[in-house]
Amino acid sequence: MASARAVVYPGSFDPITHGHTNLISRALEMFDHVTVAIGTSLDKDPERYLHDRLELCRAALAEFGERVSVEAFNGLLVDFLKTRDTRFVLRGVRTLTDYDYEFQMIEMNRMLYPEIAYVLLPTAHEWSFLSSSRVREIADLGGDISPFVHPAVAKHYRAGNTASR
Ligand code: PNS
Repeated sequence: MASARAVVYPGSFDPITHGHTNLISRALEMFDHVTVAIGTSLDKDPERYLHDRLELCRAALAEFGERVSVEAFNGLLVDFLKTRDTRFVLRGVRTLTDYDYEFQMIEMNRMLYPEIAYVLLPTAHEWSFLSSSRVREIADLGGDISPFVHPAVAKHYRAGNTASR
């Protein structure tokens, strides 16, 4: 049986927000190590955007040191998981809509990999409204995203960059 002390946290992280970071800090109370796994489709995501997302996640999570690593994966989450020394997957949930989406993914992934085990954490109250897509929209329209993201992410977007298509 794989170690119970490592967990994979998959997502788009487009961009990483304080909601994600808060979830990771809470997961580290349960697990020794969190692998942030940025799901990507090489067909859809130009490589430079993926590179930006990786770098921004690494900057935002540097405070956790070696207990958090950031990687990209292309293809199925279950295949990525099989290459890791864990069967545990972390996801944050904010609303009932999130639960619906998660349960669908959980059941599909269980069919593909029955050993998979999900840890669903409710998002911290103060970030329950926050989503990467809203953050992107605010940034695209010239708003200030610094209350929602690490300074490195805010700086990246202020410079006119995006981390996605
Ligand atoms: O942050 P997101 O956009 O909710 O993350 C979605 C993600 C990356 C976790 C999900 O799309 C995923 O697992 N993609 C990998 C492809 C895969 O395994 N698809 C089957 C899901 S049932």
